[in-house]
Parts: sequence; C-alpha cells; structure tokens
Amino acid sequence: MIDTAQATRHFVERFGEPPQWVVRAPGRVNLIGEHTDYNDGFVMPLAIDRAVWIALRRRPDRRVVVHSIDFRDEGEFALDELRPSEKRWLEYIKGVAWSLADDGLPLSGWEGIVAGDVPAGAGLSSSAALEVAAARAFASVAAIGWDAKAMAVRCQRAENRWVGMNCGIMDQMISACGRAGHAVLIDCRSLELSPAPLPEDVRVAVLDTGTRRGLVDSQYNARRADCEAACATLGVKALRDATLELLGDHRRELSETVYRRARHVISENERTARAAEAMRRGDFGALGPMLRESHRSLRDDYEVSSPALNAIVDAAVEHPACLGARMTGAGFGGCAVALVRSEAMDDFARRTAVRYREQTGFDAVVHVCRATDGAAVEQALNDAPA
Ligand code: GLA
Repeated sequence: MIDTAQATRHFVERFGEPPQWVVRAPGRVNLIGEHTDYNDGFVMPLAIDRAVWIALRRRPDRRVVVHSIDFRDEGEFALDELRPSEKRWLEYIKGVAWSLADDGLPLSGWEGIVAGDVPAGAGLSSSAALEVAAARAFASVAAIGWDAKAMAVRCQRAENRWVGMNCGIMDQMISACGRAGHAVLIDCRSLELSPAPLPEDVRVAVLDTGTRRGLVDSQYNARRADCEAACATLGVKALRDATLELLGDHRRELSETVYRRARHVISENERTARAAEAMRRGDFGALGPMLRESHRSLRDDYEVSSPALNAIVDAAVEHPACLGARMTGAGFGGCAVALVRSEAMDDFARRTAVRYREQTGFDAVVHVCRATDGAAVEQALNDAPA
C-alpha cells in the first residue's frame, strides 16, 4: 500500500529533497449502475483505498518531468508543445494538461514521481485515478482552485479526446468526489451527487478474476453505438429517458441485439434508483437480489461478462454471508464486486477463491475495500498553496 510517507520517499530518492506537494486520487468500484453513465443514467460507485499518488515540486520552466515508479520509466513534455507520444502512461497526464489549457486554465511546469496501487486493467479505474491525480498536481502547482466536479469533467475530456477512449463520466467523477464511508449515487445527466452510507456490518469485496481482456475498447464503442441506435428508434435523447414500456412498444422496429442492449440499460437504471433508496433506508438485504439481477442483465442482455466473471460471481453468491455479487466496470475480464457480512469476510474470501480455482484453474485475489474520500492534497510543504 502506498501512503504519503512512501510517495515522499520515492520523491526524495529521485530528487534529493522532500516534495512540495503529495497528492492522491483513488480508484473506484461500482456497486450498481453499469454501462448507464454514457446513457445519462445513474451509477453508484465508491472511491476505494487504492490510489494513484503524485509527489511533486514546481519547475522554473514550462516542462513536466515525471518518473513512474510502477513502469520504472521516465517521461517529459513541454506545456507549450503538447504532442502525443508512444508512452501511454504519460499520455494521461499530458491529456489532462491539454484539457485544462483548453478550458483557459493556467499551467506551470513541475517534476515528480507517480506511484499507484490500483491494479491496472482490472476495471478499478487506474487511468481515471491517474488523470485526477494529474489534475490535482497541475491545480496545486498553478494555484488553480479545486472544483472537483469541473475537474472530473476535464479529466473525462482528456480521456475521450486525448487518449481516445470514449468513456462516460463515472470513473473521473467518483475519483474526484468520493466520500469516506459512503457509496455515491451519481446522476450522470445533472451530475448531482447523493452519498449513501455503507454500514459497518457489511463489507465491499472486490474479487479480481486475474483475467484481462484487450478488446474492451472496441466492444465498448459497439455497445455505445447500439444504445444510440435504440435512442433514434425510441425518439429519446438518451436511454435515461426511456421506459421498458416504451421499449416494448418499439420492439418490432429494433434488432434483437439492440432491443436487449436497451433493455439492460433501462432496467439497470431502475435497479440503481431502487438500490439507492434501499441504502437510504439502511436495508442492505434488499441490495443483494438487485446485484444478482444486474449481473444477469450484463451477462445475457448486454453481453459484457466473461466465463471467469460468471464463475467468480457464482462462487461468491454460494457463500451464506454474501448478500449479492456482480461483475463491475466495463467487463470482459477484471473484477466482480460482492457485498459480504463483515463477520464472515475471511471465510468468504477463502472459500470463494477455492471454489473459483476449482471451476476455472485461475487464482483470484480478494480485496476488502474501504470507501475513501476523493482526490486530495495529502501534504503541502513550506509555503506551497494546496
Ligand atoms: C468504464 C467506463 C465508465 C463506465 C463503465 C461501465 O469503466 O470508463 O465510464 O461506462 O465502463 O459502467
């Protein structure tokens, strides 16, 4: 696990003195509301205690020099000549610089280290965490006031337009706006946030299947196109505005595939709204069936699950202490999420991993997650403004 002290140590090893700032931006896990964000719908993620950290100091020139601890690599670029390069990890940072500048915000040069403990490619948003951490770094060094929502939107634009991944707003928003001890219902149209407390007696477990899929981007774009096709036929701006009844009325005008894609999104939005209500009532028992239903819908209608994800969800829900489980994130590999009664967590983790190995031959990693606050300046030295 990385913390302020560790990030500081990495900086001192590289630059010989303490950093001016240490910033952190968390990864996330989504409880429910999958593939709804780019349909203007609802999502219910939490920021997790796995994060990207940047320790940095100002530079007198307009260059950014970054040492990646995880990639054992160094990259740099000039703020006045932003051009794409081959170093993918650096493009997330450069893209954020481009997006901030595009909004007319001032930029200053800096140098630092970046280190993280969000597993990459697992569906826990390591790239959104890197973008939001980079935004925090740029904001600190140029004394830009931190408007978390506006920064999340700028980071999403960096990912859409600079990196070229057409994601929705969920990951950047929760990394910027997470709240300790809470999941956050996000209305992805109005960007209104409603935190819902997570009780002490239930834990959020992230179940990493150990599998990764490279085709996510093209499949993701194909799903977005299916949703747009459904909107055109239904005559709505976004699937957020459609009901199952309206979908039923138009069934014969839609291909079977587009019909099922839309049925997932519309029903998932309804489930997410119901889940938020159950959480407000403190009725966690009611969430279990909704998570399972969400998984079935993603598996059968949206077709973004995988054999490994199905196997780990089946293994998890077999355990009596598991309230519910489902795949989480874009899909095709990566992680599932489970809600588990706290007192049986260790037994749950052990038995789920054993069962999953029996079924697939793969080793699962179970992370028990705490919900944390969104991106923050964890330390500012001397006269450095936060
Ligand atoms: C990825 C995207 C998000 C969201 C999820 C699916 O994580 O980055 O915007 O669409 O997939 O819910």
